[in-house]
This record gives sequence, C-alpha cells and structure tokens, in this order.
Amino acid sequence: MRSYNGSEMSRDIGIDLGTSSVLVSMGGRGIALKEPSVVAVRRDTGEIVCIGEEARKILGRAPANIHVVKPLQDGVISQYELAVKMLQYFLRKAIGTQIIKPRIFICIPGDITEVEEKAVYDAATGAGYSRPMLISEPVAAAIGAGIDISMPNGNLVVDIGGGTTDVAVISLGGVIASKSIKIAGDKFDEAIVRYIRNLHNVLIGERTAEELKRTIGTLTPGDPKYKDRYMDVTGRCLARGLPKVVRVYPHDIKAALTDPINQILDAITEVIDNTPPELDGDIVSNGILLTGGGSLLAGLGEVVTSCIGVRARIPQNPDQCVAIGTGKAMRFFSEGPTERALYGRYLR
Ligand SMILES: Nc1ncnc2c1ncn2[C@@H]1O[C@H](COP(=O)(O)OP(=O)(O)OP(=O)(O)O)[C@@H](O)[C@H]1O
Ligand SMILES: [Mg+2]
Repeated sequence: MRSYNGSEMSRDIGIDLGTSSVLVSMGGRGIALKEPSVVAVRRDTGEIVCIGEEARKILGRAPANIHVVKPLQDGVISQYELAVKMLQYFLRKAIGTQIIKPRIFICIPGDITEVEEKAVYDAATGAGYSRPMLISEPVAAAIGAGIDISMPNGNLVVDIGGGTTDVAVISLGGVIASKSIKIAGDKFDEAIVRYIRNLHNVLIGERTAEELKRTIGTLTPGDPKYKDRYMDVTGRCLARGLPKVVRVYPHDIKAALTDPINQILDAITEVIDNTPPELDGDIVSNGILLTGGGSLLAGLGEVVTSCIGVRARIPQNPDQCVAIGTGKAMRFFSEGPTERALYGRYLR
C-alpha cells in the first residue's frame, strides 16, 4: 500500500477548503495558514475589498455597498469566482509565488456530487495549481489524527465542521460506510438564534450565537464548572424593535442544540448500522474519533460516548486534523503520484 516515498517533510500542500475556515498545511510541517472563508466585495464594481480574517471582522457590520460573502455553503462551493480568488490569495499568502508549484491536495466532503467535486478541482486549477488531488474529508481527518488508514483496522471518524458533519468508517485506506449531513457548527448557531428568539422574543446575530456557543456552550451544563456561568448578550427586542440585553445560561445552549446533536447521533448510528459486523470490535477498541471545529463543543465527547456506547476521543487540535491529513495524504496513494495526478483521481 505504501508505494510513495514521501517523507514527513514532503513539499505537498494540503488544503482544507472549509465552510468556516481555510487551512493550509505544508507536508509534515504543520499549519501554515488558518483564515475564515469569507470575502468582502464591493457591490457596484465587484472589486474585492478584503479576504479572510479582515473580511470576517466586518461581517454583519459592513456598509450597504460592501457585501460580505462566504464562498462555501454546507461544505461545497456556492460562489465559484470568489472561491477561486480566495484560494489564490490564501495560497500566495501561505507559500508565496513559486516557479515550481508543489503538489496540492484538497479535501472534499464525503457525499459531494460530481458537479460540486469538479468545482473544487477547477477552483484549484483556476488558482494556478494543475492536477490537484482530492481527498475525502473524513479520510483526511483520520490521517491527520495519526491513524494509519492503510491497516485492515476499522476506524469510525466523525468530522463536525461548520457546514457538514462527515461520518465514516475507514479501513484499508477506503471508506466502508459513510454519511454526510448538512448539520454542523453553522446549524448549531442558527439553533441558538432560534432558541433565544423563542425564549426572550429577542433576535441575536449569528456571530453572537457563535460566541455564546464557544464561551458558555456545553452539552453537560450540570457539570459543576458551569455553575454560575452565564453571558449577557444584546439583541433586538422583536416586540419594541429596540436593543435589549438578555442573560443566557449554559442549559439554554444545551436545550438549543438538542435537535442538531440528535441528528448527528442518528447519523453515527446509521453508519455503524451499515458497517459489516466484523469491524464492530475494531470500532469499540479504537473508539470514535471526533474531529473538526464542532468537536470542540464542550461535553460532546461525553454525550457521544454515553449515547452510542463507544468511547469518543478528541485529538489535540481537532480543527486542524483535516488540513494536516490532507497534506500527508500522498503516502497513502497506492499508485505513483504522477499517474494518479494525470488522471485527476482521488482517494475516496
Ligand atoms: N470552542 C468551540 N466550541 C464549539 N464550536 C466551535 C469551537 N471552536 C470552533 N467551533 C465551531 O467549529 C466550526 C468550524 O469548524 P471547522 O473549521 O472544522 O469547519 P470547516 O472545516 O470550515 O467546515 P466544513 O468542514 O463543514 O466545510 C464553526 O461552526 C465554529 O463555530
Ligand atoms: Mg472541515
């Protein structure tokens, strides 16, 4: 299986082109760039004002003539031209302009359509990188978490991003069973906005909801460390149309997230159900690997462990696993890199 002679210090570039953020990893040398997947565009001329962190700062605060856009929605490219420009900008920022371009690997969600997949391929070629290689997100997450995916050993990976949650059982370098759902961090934020509106009749912004999720969000609010925790946030009172401050507690966030979390638990159950029973023992002994920024939600590991009945484990920097694994993917290709690249095939 390990036919490629790539070392830890390969020049390969891995790109996690995510709904929330773009990460660029350099072979085995770690993360070179992490920026939000956001572009600010002038409405009249279409001219790009700023990209990444700078654009994120003005999200929801930009004047009327500036449109702040996320070029990816639900894990796939929704605004092609902007995605190409954003990718070009990030790659230049991360690796500069090189005459001999390194090989690039880009991850894609598990259940992507051919058209969506081609958009990612074309975005990379549009950004100046010929023959990019595409790799399935959960496979990349497993590699990035240090799993040797070439072994005949079943590993269950759950990558919870901003737009999609990818659940997959991987063995011998391939995906045995998988499911990708469009329920992840962004839907968590929307659920918090809805919950606060129903509870207080106050509309908060999605950035505020995300801050609540990261700051006081937990699925185990009974934990003593959440005693006396709360956050005061300002929204618009829907009855009076004026700003209003409301106090939000950890148990509110848990209540808001119950439905999307249950949908993720259902997807995990379904994937286990579709996995040959021979691999059950591996899954139980290896545990469930949780990756993606969404897995940083406090209490998620405990909830997955108790509801699925298999120990969940979260690696260090779970939000970087996909990018790191994408950069190291080449060593798992069974054929020579050139041949693979020429045919534009990818690791599923
Ligand atoms: N500490 C935290 N607690 C809860 N959620 C978090 C935390 N940190 C980040 N997140 C969430 O993680 C999500 C982003 O994760 P990630 O960067 O893995 O997504 P992505 O790869 O860009 O998206 P996708 O894979 O769906 O295209 C966001 O919804 C963000 O709010
Ligand atoms: Mg992701």
